[in-house]
Amino acid sequence: MKAKNDKKTKEFLEVSRKYEPSCMSWQAPVVWDHAQGAEIWDVDGNHYIDWTSGVLVANVGHAHPHLAEALGEQAKKLLNTYDFPTPERLNLARKIIEHTPSHLDKVFFVATGSEATDAALRIVKRYTKKFEVLAFWGGFHGRSFGPMSVAGIGGIKRNFGPLIPGGIFAPYPYCYRCPFEKAYPDCKYFCLDYLDRIVETESTGSLAGLIIEPYQGAAGFVFPPEGYLKKLEEWAKKRNVVFILDEVQSSFGRTGKMWALEHEGLEPDVLCLGKGMGSGVPIAAVVTRSEIISCLGPGEMSSTLGGNPLSCSGALAVFEIMEVENLIQKAAENGKYLHEKLLSLKDKYPVIGDIRGKGLVYGIEFVKDRKTKEPAPDLARNIVLKCVENGLMVGKLGIYGNVMRIAPPLVITPELIDLSVLILEKVLSEF
Ligand SMILES: Cc1ncc(COP(=O)(O)O)c(C=O)c1O
Repeated sequence: MKAKNDKKTKEFLEVSRKYEPSCMSWQAPVVWDHAQGAEIWDVDGNHYIDWTSGVLVANVGHAHPHLAEALGEQAKKLLNTYDFPTPERLNLARKIIEHTPSHLDKVFFVATGSEATDAALRIVKRYTKKFEVLAFWGGFHGRSFGPMSVAGIGGIKRNFGPLIPGGIFAPYPYCYRCPFEKAYPDCKYFCLDYLDRIVETESTGSLAGLIIEPYQGAAGFVFPPEGYLKKLEEWAKKRNVVFILDEVQSSFGRTGKMWALEHEGLEPDVLCLGKGMGSGVPIAAVVTRSEIISCLGPGEMSSTLGGNPLSCSGALAVFEIMEVENLIQKAAENGKYLHEKLLSLKDKYPVIGDIRGKGLVYGIEFVKDRKTKEPAPDLARNIVLKCVENGLMVGKLGIYGNVMRIAPPLVITPELIDLSVLILEKVLSEF
């Protein structure tokens, strides 16, 4: 591979060091310039295949012409009205209600995923007049105080306390590292039975709801075993615990279905959407039932940029693109193709402890030793850096920082999948 030109990159990174704080997430040192579909070019003209979608956002692909055109037209027409309705917001509201499970009939728009989960928590507390929320180890729901208080990752909350009271934490079914040292399916969902003991011990009798991701993103793309979420929903229903499903990351085709809830026919009381919804345009939403959200009176919840016409036109264009280009089916098919290729690497490279995922979202967990499963965060970091050097844009995450995050735009082609896996394999062979 020829040496990369990095003159402008270095200059811009110097500007970043000088003027930006270092609190943002770690990324390989690349300054993005432009992108198209599932490909990216940096400021020095170097080319990359995208396995990030910019943190699972650009689901319809970068710079999609239809999305760009919709945004351009809308920008010339109307950008913000605050809570005055617009055709764009109302058409999007109808679209979302028509496409989500039939028991959900109201949608409230906000600008970010954190705003959506924060709103969901407030709605549930008001509706139930209770304050405790069951949340899960490894859970991530955003960075503002509400979602942070139900985060199951310590680093996110460190030295920000005291947090909002009422968080009760239970193990998520991270089967590769089961805290009970059991194995699915022989465990018979032991962690679910354990929930009652946790609630009996920790709740003061004011349990309002639970919040959970269909798969855990920040924890390292951790997927629960089949059937777990449906059983959890039944558990919640039996105990009148309102079920909040945080699909900020998993929705809009990411797992090979429009909503991850479709895999098990879930019927959450509250559904949070974001990220891929605008495919780069800031928009998120809380979808719920009239009976629940009518606990709020006029003026009790609202957002300056929530449901602005620009973002709504963008989200409407995203729906159209997904339909016209059949992106959900493509995500399922190309995802299967990618998954098989990744699994074939597992046999060859013992540093790969686990590979898991669905549709177009996969995590590769790197370990020092397959038996002990000791996490290998430094190795993961070096592999990511080498991949990026070789033209594959990828990141890492996870409770232990040892999981490679693979989440390309849903428009990625089998040819680009072949090329990207070749790059990964070349890098792995060097370690
Ligand atoms: C599951 C989940 N919920 C909420 C959020 C917060 O979204 P945002 O960063 O848009 O506030 C994220 C972001 O990564 C997420 O993955």
